[in-house]
Amino acid sequence: MAALTIATGTGNWFSALALGVTLLKCLLIPTYHSTDFEVHRNWLAITHSLPISQWYYEATSEWTLDYPPFFAWFEYILSHVAKYFDQEMLNVHNLNYSSSRTLLFQRFSVIFMDVLFVYAVRECCKCIDGKKVGKELTEKPKFILSVLLLWNFGLLIVDHIHFQYNGFLFGLMLLSIARLFQKRHMEGAFLFAVLLHFKHIYLYVAPAYGVYLLRSYCFTANKPESAASSLFPTLSFQEGPLSCILGSKLLGFVQCFGQSAVCHRLLSVGKAGDASIFLILTTTGHYSLFPLLFTAPELPIKILLMLLFTIYSISSLKTLFRKEKPLFNWMETFYLLGLGPLEVCCEFVFPFTSWKVKYPFIPLLLTSVYCAVGITYAWFKLYVSVLIDSAIGKTKKQ
Ligand SMILES: *[C@@H]1O[C@H](CO)[C@@H](O)[C@H](O)[C@H]1NC(C)=O
Repeated sequence: MAALTIATGTGNWFSALALGVTLLKCLLIPTYHSTDFEVHRNWLAITHSLPISQWYYEATSEWTLDYPPFFAWFEYILSHVAKYFDQEMLNVHNLNYSSSRTLLFQRFSVIFMDVLFVYAVRECCKCIDGKKVGKELTEKPKFILSVLLLWNFGLLIVDHIHFQYNGFLFGLMLLSIARLFQKRHMEGAFLFAVLLHFKHIYLYVAPAYGVYLLRSYCFTANKPESAASSLFPTLSFQEGPLSCILGSKLLGFVQCFGQSAVCHRLLSVGKAGDASIFLILTTTGHYSLFPLLFTAPELPIKILLMLLFTIYSISSLKTLFRKEKPLFNWMETFYLLGLGPLEVCCEFVFPFTSWKVKYPFIPLLLTSVYCAVGITYAWFKLYVSVLIDSAIGKTKKQ
């Protein structure tokens, strides 16, 4: 907090936010990590010790390399740093190898790659206009957006506890979005293409990108500039998270909820109605990530971080939109508060009941169903909001 106060004086609050969360990430190094840790160790070993022709055929470990080529090259480059930490992690036959140096290297590689994410957040912040300038720093949309992105609960637990590299991939996506906002369309399209070569899950967002680029870059001959830029929020941001959610339901990518939440948050600093959709989507999406961390020592960490993030996002957006109608209606409030009792039932009451042995899947089932209701509702509300907006737009034109 002291660092933040000093930094704000010099206008350098952004660095303080980034540095603060980096320290938090370092504190999370010793926490539980999932099998994804071994997945990435194995990919380091494969790309380091085998010729390219073998990368996609090597199957000593069950975790074969199944990400697109750029990610494989990324692991290849990382492996040349990894060898200075511990050569043993680069042996394809060393299954489940996890020395303390291996752990340090892998954790630090995720933290280090987040530099790209931090840069992208900065670029995104430049895209929001500072018309709603509050007196206080903490009331500025740029500050709120930075906190919501940099200190994102989903990214923290999925990347820095569970173990994955979503941070820099999101960074690429945010950067690409920022370039579109800055009307540097070719660059934006290029960055998105690069992203697809890293992780194919982003294919869900591709249709929205395609439509947006066609309308705002390819067919702009007789259209005013402003029309092109106003299209972006309705097409890319909203379709993006939607297709992402749909995909996650079909394919079971839990972390996708977190992703969609991140895509969506840029919207939240625009309109009060969108802020409420955003809050329902993020809170529910983040809660749906809870089952990823099922170990006892991480229980207080995840609950505390989630509470911190949720309380901050609700209170900051409330301040930002204090002149407009309340963020939630009674039903939404009731639903969000219900997450509390749900958590108590699933993690504190259920383990002591006789059903624990016979029906161990019940907490997961309850969580999934409860979150699915909220996410579907937010999705529905988003469609209604988009339709109303475009109807109003049309009437204004006439
Ligand atoms: C590696 O760990 C996984 C999961 O923890 C386990 O299923 C597998 O049998 C282990 N493999 C070896 C060779 O120890």
